[in-house]
Amino acid sequence: MRIQLANSLNGKIYLPGDKSISHRAAILASMATGETRIENFATSADCASTLDCLRKLGVEIKKENSMVLIKGVSKNGFSAAKTELDCGNSGTTMRLLAGVLAGQNFDSILIGDESLQKRPMRRIIEPLTQMGAQIESENFCAPLKIHGKSPLQTISYRLPVASAQVKSSILLAGLNAVGKSKIQNPKSKIQKPTSRNHTELMLRYLEAEIEESFVEVEGGFVQEISVDGNSKLVAKNLNIPSDISSAAFFIVAASCLKNSEIVLKNIGLNPTRTAILDVLQLFGADIEVLNQKEICNETVGDIQVCGRGNFASKASSNIISGDVIANLIDEIPILAVFGTQIENGLEIRGAEELRVKESDRIAATVENLRRMNATVEEFPDGFRVEKSDLKGATVDSFADHRIAMAFAVAALFANGETEIIGSECAGVSFPEFFETLLNVKN
Ligand code: S3P
Repeated sequence: MRIQLANSLNGKIYLPGDKSISHRAAILASMATGETRIENFATSADCASTLDCLRKLGVEIKKENSMVLIKGVSKNGFSAAKTELDCGNSGTTMRLLAGVLAGQNFDSILIGDESLQKRPMRRIIEPLTQMGAQIESENFCAPLKIHGKSPLQTISYRLPVASAQVKSSILLAGLNAVGKSKIQNPKSKIQKPTSRNHTELMLRYLEAEIEESFVEVEGGFVQEISVDGNSKLVAKNLNIPSDISSAAFFIVAASCLKNSEIVLKNIGLNPTRTAILDVLQLFGADIEVLNQKEICNETVGDIQVCGRGNFASKASSNIISGDVIANLIDEIPILAVFGTQIENGLEIRGAEELRVKESDRIAATVENLRRMNATVEEFPDGFRVEKSDLKGATVDSFADHRIAMAFAVAALFANGETEIIGSECAGVSFPEFFETLLNVKN
């Protein structure tokens, strides 16, 4: 893909359904009793991997554009797949399905692409093994051979990392355990979930018995979530908000290009996902939320962005670190691009989890920014980028969708033309990205 400097972005933008919520909708609808109609299901390749795996596990699924119909089989009513279950590039598919399969009375093999085979799975293998499943792997990486057990034992587990995928994996396994399982999130400074909480919200919506509380500990709070293995999921139609992580590329682009005015319709505004808006506003971005409402336990609204052009730093410090990192983890590559446009640049710390995403996102971001003439320093847990005059260059997606899209936005600010090698990987989360961008680009 080749992209040139832009003057502004203008127009109304509709984005596909949220990837995280779509995975959960498909999995929980399959675990429910009754039929579920899901509207605005994500168009991402990752969510298609989840649907494929569920079909192989005996779930009847019909899909028409972004509408998906699922006949639930109940939480332990899946049947053994005849082949390996291919999770493609999707960590969420693998980690969440591992939680479901741990509690089934049969064996399954989860495989993935080259990137997924390198990602850490010990974080789910350990708790699921404690619950009674047996999981074979090489060096705690995929392929994973899961010897399921029904019912599982309950667990009381403190998460070593602030990960929604790990938390969700254990919650899903907990639905097939005898009694209440308890999960403690890592400590945080304020009473807020330390990672996205879509699983908890959807479980409650589908009438599972789930409780959440905060315990005060020295220097902060620990969130405890308990789920009862006696819970039954009641099938209910689901409407998926559009993906704020996809919106983020347009929000940054429009904020930085003077004369821009865009409205992103029907975007998910769950407070565990909106840290990107807070950070951009802190630096003076002109962002307004309109028509806010609740749908299926999730907050949704339209986001209006007007271009600011020059950003004089308003924030007291240009360092982003701590609890907020987990709430904007997928937006860090695009924040790095934003950093090249603001006075005093931007520093991200405490984001070492980025090294084990679809690519090493710290290395990939730093490398591409340097190719585009930015001044960047790399740290083990982040980077510092200075305000820079970007120049068109050949950059690499590193087969990572968010890197491809972040650098498509960088190209809009760069003099000359930018070529993105391997840009088609954007389809992992957002197949319509380039088309949507070119439609609103001036
Ligand atoms: C996701 C959680 C996040 C995020 C990923 C999707 C999810 O990872 O980076 O893209 O759907 O649960 P963590 O498990 O590290 O929170």
